[in-house]
Amino acid sequence: MKPSRTLSVLLAAAWLLAMPALAAAQETPPEVDELTGLKIAPGWELVRNNCVTCHSARQFLQQKGTRETWRSVIKWMQDRGGLWPLPAETEAAILDYLEAHHGPGREYRRAPIPANLMPPNPYASAARREYEEKLRQGAGPKPPP
Ligand code: HEC
Repeated sequence: MKPSRTLSVLLAAAWLLAMPALAAAQETPPEVDELTGLKIAPGWELVRNNCVTCHSARQFLQQKGTRETWRSVIKWMQDRGGLWPLPAETEAAILDYLEAHHGPGREYRRAPIPANLMPPNPYASAARREYEEKLRQGAGPKPPP
């Protein structure tokens, strides 16, 4: 074999061996706490201590939002849910965590349309339609932020 050919074969072999390892290193998802389902990442204990007291983490594990949305959830929890006041640095750490692990993701090409600006859902149940109609008229409970 010519030296240049040997070199390219070696390079190709090295590439093939290195790629899966590199890909694995990039994609390793954070460990998940068995009890709460929270991803174990910086700030997760603060989220556990402050957000998994009254309800389970399932209340928000499936939810996604920007930092502003999560800030408004915290405020909503404080106004309506009974969440205690949080020191600024605790709130910031909780927001860092929620933003990093429950951020809006990349699935959207644009921000979701607010529910009250959507056309009526043709598949909604009668009860849901009545509720949405009342919301449009400004009656009924305010939707969560
Ligand atoms: C003192 C009790 C308490 C604490 C602590 C608390 N919550 Fe709640 N949470 C509630 C109550 C009560 C509701 C139901 C409110 C309602 O439906 O009006 C709720 C509902 C929610 C919901 C709505 C779920 C849904 O879509 O219906 C989310 C999201 C949520 N909480 C997130 C959080 C986060 C994040 C924290 C921590 C910053 C937190 N909660 C801490 C009491 C609490």
